[in-house]
Amino acid sequence: MKGIVLAGGTGSRLLPLTRAMSKQLLSVYNKPLVYYPLSVLMLAGIREILVISTPSTVPLLRALLGDGNQLGIELYAAQDEPRGIADAFRIGAGHVGDDDVALILGDNLFHGAGFARRLQECAAAPDGCTLFGYPVSDPERYGIGEVDGDGMLVSIEEKPLRPRANNAITGLYFYDNEVVDISRRITPSARGELEITDVNREYLKQGRARLIRLSRGNTWFDCGTHDSLLAAGQYVQVIEQRQGVRVACLEEIALRMGFIDADACYRLGEQMRQSDYGRYLTDIAYALD
Ligand code: G1P
Repeated sequence: MKGIVLAGGTGSRLLPLTRAMSKQLLSVYNKPLVYYPLSVLMLAGIREILVISTPSTVPLLRALLGDGNQLGIELYAAQDEPRGIADAFRIGAGHVGDDDVALILGDNLFHGAGFARRLQECAAAPDGCTLFGYPVSDPERYGIGEVDGDGMLVSIEEKPLRPRANNAITGLYFYDNEVVDISRRITPSARGELEITDVNREYLKQGRARLIRLSRGNTWFDCGTHDSLLAAGQYVQVIEQRQGVRVACLEEIALRMGFIDADACYRLGEQMRQSDYGRYLTDIAYALD
């Protein structure tokens, strides 16, 4: 399975923070925002990942992450301005090739017990599309999914005026290879975008759309506003300080997933030994629980 991180956009809701700085590099507590969506794809076991971003952001991401080799993954960059989320599959068609694909939005943070296992199950058996639902109190801001008793999707609506459910469709999507054709067939919406909801509706029509409701103990943020960015940072701070674990520590994930070995993890930690983050890596390299 291939991965795509959609890290485009101007971050206009975060101005003036994003006037001179890319949204993907803003801090969520102690790491750049892009670490969080990247960690999700890595935890799913995906090692070939395309990051779609703006021309000014691509060199910054390159400086931050290189080509991914140090993490045992392959990172590719595409400079483009997507016309909607579904446009990621047009831009990324060459990267996806004949494979299945997982797409994650570059400002989405997921965390919780059992989440990594869930991801690996989805990556192992992609049939149709798998979406993740999260209960929200402001459903008119999101794509909303309605499910029947078996967890199959009954309807999907983008930013409904009169929501029939409160399950927001989060910014993480698993698809079989047909998504590339489907995204070529859909047309722009009234707001001029190729809507991911229209892609998902096509799978729904075929009876091949599944919604996994993220249960208690799982957390989702989209860090698109000042308040959600701060809340996400506070969440990570509390989890890391109280539980003594790291959220979205890419080097640790690479080690746990078997993408790199303990020596490599230790060396990466040593390069950052002045920081708590670096010391954490040297501490865990040979002592994973
Ligand atoms: C997009 C999608 C929406 C989804 C949301 C999740 O909305 O269109 O279906 O619920 O991401 O972050 P946007 O952020 O473009 O308003």
